[in-house]
Amino acid sequence: MAIGKIVVESAAQAAKTVAEILVASIQREPEIVLGLATGETMRPVYRMLLKLAFERDCPMNRFTSFNLDEFVGVPPNHPGSFAYYTKSELSANLADAGSRINLPNGMAANPEVEAARYEAKLAASGGIAIQLLGIGRNGHIGFNEPGTNFESRTRVVELATETRQSQHLFRGDAPMRAITMGIGNILEARKCILLATGLVKAEPVAAMLNHGVSRYCPASALALHCDATAILDHEAASLL
Ligand code: GLP
Repeated sequence: MAIGKIVVESAAQAAKTVAEILVASIQREPEIVLGLATGETMRPVYRMLLKLAFERDCPMNRFTSFNLDEFVGVPPNHPGSFAYYTKSELSANLADAGSRINLPNGMAANPEVEAARYEAKLAASGGIAIQLLGIGRNGHIGFNEPGTNFESRTRVVELATETRQSQHLFRGDAPMRAITMGIGNILEARKCILLATGLVKAEPVAAMLNHGVSRYCPASALALHCDATAILDHEAASLL
């Protein structure tokens, strides 16, 4: 299957398109299991999701979510951690978020054991209905860096130098490792939505959509999925 593509005028419109899909899906199925992504691209999605959910009386107290990834060794009160991000962008605004907003625990004494625990909890949830994804400058999804096996599962990974350098909240001292869902997990979601905005994403988006399926562009694995859509602004789509 080809990856579907929706190109809209602006980053704000792209985020709204994603938020509209989420609200409609939660309204249809309030106990839905969502796969969540972090990154700067996603911040406007969470803001719009909360706004639309409020305006439309969408029940936000019953869904379950699993974040894609977390840094190893970064405490949840560090602004660079995805726990901090998810709390400030989402869970702080939800009633009773504690046990249903899941992230890998980057502070676990044994990160490998934590990856296995997370994988088991994800499996026990019945699986992800909608997986949100951003894309790294090198084409990564989650923290699955170029070269990752498409059957990979939740595990501890080493981050690429380029990925570490783009984590500006760490001011040049980004962690070396992360726990991430694998590409195998991502492909098991019933629907995948990848959001990319801005000129900095034009190259990885072109690699994903125009250069065939390759382990060297992890996002291109979405072409193996039967319901994957890339939602792009004009800048991210400018090399297509
Ligand atoms: C991080 C996350 C990815 C995200 C990517 C893009 O590396 N692990 O899940 O897609 O960043 O982030 P941004 O939107 O900030 O460019």
